Amino acid sequence: WYMQHHRQLPWRETTDPYLIWLSEIILQQTQVVTGEGYYHRIAQRLPTVADMASAPLDELLRLWQGMGYYSRARNMHFAAQQVVNDFGGQFPNTYVQLSSLKGVGPYTAAAIASIAFNLPYAVVDGNVFRVLSRLYAIDTPIDSTLGKKTFDALANQLLDVAQPALHNQSMMELGALVCKAATPLCNECPLADHCLARQANAQLSFPVKAKK
Ligand code: ADE
Repeated sequence: WYMQHHRQLPWRETTDPYLIWLSEIILQQTQVVTGEGYYHRIAQRLPTVADMASAPLDELLRLWQGMGYYSRARNMHFAAQQVVNDFGGQFPNTYVQLSSLKGVGPYTAAAIASIAFNLPYAVVDGNVFRVLSRLYAIDTPIDSTLGKKTFDALANQLLDVAQPALHNQSMMELGALVCKAATPLCNECPLADHCLARQANAQLSFPVKAKK
């Protein structure tokens, strides 16, 4: 399904961990359509992690202007200097090392590890929560500690360890294009016959959140 339907997005044309990192930080709180323009601008002006590390913070903040959540830019600037100073300019290539970068939490570490380095870490973003909660009709709140553990374990159990980059992007893309929050396109879904939420006609009841 992914091979036939995925969007051609700029960060899918590269395996450069710096650019994958940039895209994932942007996409945490910014829509793909908006984020694409910012990604191009920043990648063009600061094409390497060394360029970001040596640029004044003000320059990155200026490039970030309009996206909001500016702590993302501050953390990236700091982390770029960590890569230069702590890793000799070589982008770290393990989950643990990636997690040591400022602003890189479990989600971003899994995304960079899998997409840039094909390491077997399942990515669980909002799209994946939605796909899995519907597919298995799991009503554990996704914003609870148990929910995070439950979905992370399930996602890792399902992960195609032979192609983690492709698998994770497929899960996210299915959530973004088909298993949409308000208007799921079940008629176009390759998993429709397996979906427990759909069997109960309860797609819109998932995912469950503790705090509304
Ligand atoms: N959202 C988070 N990561 C993404 C990615 N790599 N592609 C599309 N949407 C995303």
